[in-house]
Amino acid sequence: MARIPRDVVEAVRDRTDIVQVVSQHVKLQRRGGSLVGLCPFHQEKSPSFNVVPAKAMYYCFGCQNGGDVFKFLMQINGLSFAEAVKELAGPAGVEIPERELSPEERRQLRARASLYDLMQAAQEFFHSKLLTSAEGQVARDYLQRRAMTQQTIEEHGLGWAPAGWTSLVDHLQNQGYPAGLILQGGLAKQSDRGNGRIYDAFRERVIIPIRDERGRVIAFGGRLLEGDGPKYINSPETPLYNKSKVLYGLEAARKAISRRDRVLLVEGYFDVLSLHQAGFTEAVATCGTSLTDTHVQKLRRLSQNIVVLMDADTAGTRAAARTLPMFVTQGMQAWRLQLPDAKDPDELIREGGPEAMEDALKLKEPLLEWYTTQKLQTYGYSDSGRSRTLDEMVDLLGHLSPAQVSTFAALLRMNEQLILQRVAERRADASSHGEAPPYHDEGPPQAQRWRPERDIVHLLWLVVHRRDQVADLMSLLDPQVLEGHGPILEPMARLLQGESLATVIHETSDVGVNRTLQAIGARTRLYSEDEAAHALGDVLHRICKPLYEGTLQRLQRQSQQLRDRGLQQEMMHTLQAVASLQTRKRTLQDAIRHGRMEDAIPLLAPIVDLPETTDSP
Ligand code: GTP
Ligand code: MN
Repeated sequence: MARIPRDVVEAVRDRTDIVQVVSQHVKLQRRGGSLVGLCPFHQEKSPSFNVVPAKAMYYCFGCQNGGDVFKFLMQINGLSFAEAVKELAGPAGVEIPERELSPEERRQLRARASLYDLMQAAQEFFHSKLLTSAEGQVARDYLQRRAMTQQTIEEHGLGWAPAGWTSLVDHLQNQGYPAGLILQGGLAKQSDRGNGRIYDAFRERVIIPIRDERGRVIAFGGRLLEGDGPKYINSPETPLYNKSKVLYGLEAARKAISRRDRVLLVEGYFDVLSLHQAGFTEAVATCGTSLTDTHVQKLRRLSQNIVVLMDADTAGTRAAARTLPMFVTQGMQAWRLQLPDAKDPDELIREGGPEAMEDALKLKEPLLEWYTTQKLQTYGYSDSGRSRTLDEMVDLLGHLSPAQVSTFAALLRMNEQLILQRVAERRADASSHGEAPPYHDEGPPQAQRWRPERDIVHLLWLVVHRRDQVADLMSLLDPQVLEGHGPILEPMARLLQGESLATVIHETSDVGVNRTLQAIGARTRLYSEDEAAHALGDVLHRICKPLYEGTLQRLQRQSQQLRDRGLQQEMMHTLQAVASLQTRKRTLQDAIRHGRMEDAIPLLAPIVDLPETTDSP
């Protein structure tokens, strides 16, 4: 596959604000020279995910995932490198030269791309039918009765699927979309009559477009106006649409969730629409399915606070029982909100306006507490009832913060220590039965690879973050000093020449070096500019020390052997070398102590001029 030229890649990277890209997926907070947030690539409760704008890099100290903005998009959206570059090229104003694609690449690209195009074309069709067609009048009336404003209709792209069996199919086929693709997109069904005809899947329904996180239409919900039939018909799962991953409204809600640091999770499309219209733009819904871990993962990147609006019925209770562990294990703070008079948010707002919703939100209660109370009410407050409640919740408790454990203890009227003890016992029990600990983030074991030593890490840090202070000094260094660290030599040389860290990482294949460089890029504070030269001397000195000492020992051993063999002259020669090396060592230490690094660094060489004598007799 032809590559996108390197300078194009760099231009896109340079003109892209990594913080802006990452912020669309992770809620970031400034900390020193970097921004931190909860890692989207592994489960964690305290932020170890760093974005360093100055280096155009991100890195997670928890799972070691890191890289540049392209890598981020590749990982988070499942794109290829080329797709990630292309995605950012437009906004960055960089043109990507046309290149040859392999036929297979072209086919795949076209298939996916045209499925998106197809869904987009269908959405436009439905939307225009709603806005302008005569037959759309019933739908316009319906939406008006439901108090949907013109702005909401347009922002959310609502539509109307006309009557007739092939309105959409005809329209799409006229535009050149083949029947196979229309079927694949879930927009049509195959006729049973065996004539190979296809007909519209959505007919006489209000259409609610479902978008992915990037705002592309990937599916539809179709609501019946009146009459017989299921209230909703939804798109089937397609190559673009996976219900257990998609949240309705997330694209529109993303900013508000992040800004208000809160998610409102509701059940229906119309609840989302009403809430957004009333200003609660942090609302999302599942697409008629139950909430999954993946859903929660997507949300927690944006906020860890979630208010679940639930029905009062037993299904609502069961849902709480099922979702609570997901929230707890993922470190989310979850509240439960049951609206007064068992209304849904849509009704509540239609009757009482945004104020009614705002008031209702004050009634939210922590899901964990509510759930515990439910259990206690079921099993009773007797010793055995409380003990049973504890038993059933003990797995969750291990994930709670100390404050939450205290609350739980108070509810249960039990001693906190006792509870923690039970948690510990349960853990020990689980591990002795060979159960995997709930979360561990280690990747698969890596093959033999270069591993960083502390001093090498510090050296690289200086090269990356204090290049101006150390580049000249580094040019004085005898290359032999770093001989044992082969994999870092080339990347380091390139960094010293001023190549960007992102480029060097991108073009370094050694996994160990790569991870180390990523981690270094994310670590903004280690040595100040004033400290840099001195730190370099210290670090190099420590790296060099074993070599120095080794050479000294070797020479001393040699001189003994020479003496034993009666080779007086050679022995004297060797001893002179030992002496000169020792002198050099003192000069070196002196220079370093006094901060004269330009004197010290050239002395950091383990080799002395010496006629080659063998160690062996
Ligand atoms: P309204 O009743 O018009 O207010 O719609 P709603 O969006 O509030 O839906 P409701 O609360 O009744 O249901 C919640 C969600 O469950 C809907 O948004 C759909 O995703 C899904 N759903 C409801 N009814 C059906 C149905 O008949 N079939 C399918 N497949 N899904 C449904
Ligand atoms: Mn509803």
